[in-house]
Amino acid sequence: MRGPGAAEGAIRMGGVPKSRRPGGGRGGGGPADGKARGAADGVRRTRSARSARILQIETVMKIDSLEKLLIHELKDLYSAETQILDALPKMEEAASNEELKTAFREHHQETKGQKKRLEQIFEGLEFEPRGERCEAAEGLVKEGEEVIEKIDKGDVRDAALIGAAQRVEHYEMAGYGTAVAFARKLGKHDVADTLTQTLEEEGKTDRNLTRLAERVLNFKAMAIA
Ligand SMILES: [Fe+2]
Ligand SMILES: [Fe+2]
Repeated sequence: MRGPGAAEGAIRMGGVPKSRRPGGGRGGGGPADGKARGAADGVRRTRSARSARILQIETVMKIDSLEKLLIHELKDLYSAETQILDALPKMEEAASNEELKTAFREHHQETKGQKKRLEQIFEGLEFEPRGERCEAAEGLVKEGEEVIEKIDKGDVRDAALIGAAQRVEHYEMAGYGTAVAFARKLGKHDVADTLTQTLEEEGKTDRNLTRLAERVLNFKAMAIA
């Protein structure tokens, strides 16, 4: 027999899928733990109400306003950052030049912060960051992996890795630039300011990669050829 907690849960969560229900459909305990469960239910109720609202909004979300378009752009960026976060350590390992390795390592750290910034923005806007897969980032990361597969370790690979990484940075700059413009238009200046911090980091990374390509790597690669 299922406990009262489960019955209440079913009513509270309404149409929310079981997998998203806190407690995942477990039965409730006996009367002895009723008080503790009551307190936990209070917290759960708040979370549940928010989850239900988010799910309701997102499952029916049609992009028919600038605000929804901003959310869509931010989800796309969140997916991109998540994929880039996985790719950067592989690029660091694949590179030979110490300065380039450092650049990838530092940008990996920066990317963690960028992902966190997006999570904070989503928290403020009461949306979930997940739900979109950025196919462009997937393609760009795949191109970076192809560089590693096709070119032996050394200066030529380093030059190609820089090219692949700069494509990613430019994609991110375009995405963040667009999101900043949308947020400003909507009067969400705190969101725009937070996104601008990331935009500036992406720009700085891109300039650093250009410096590395021009001063160190491309010339060495040409010398080998
Ligand atoms: Fe980024
Ligand atoms: Fe980046």
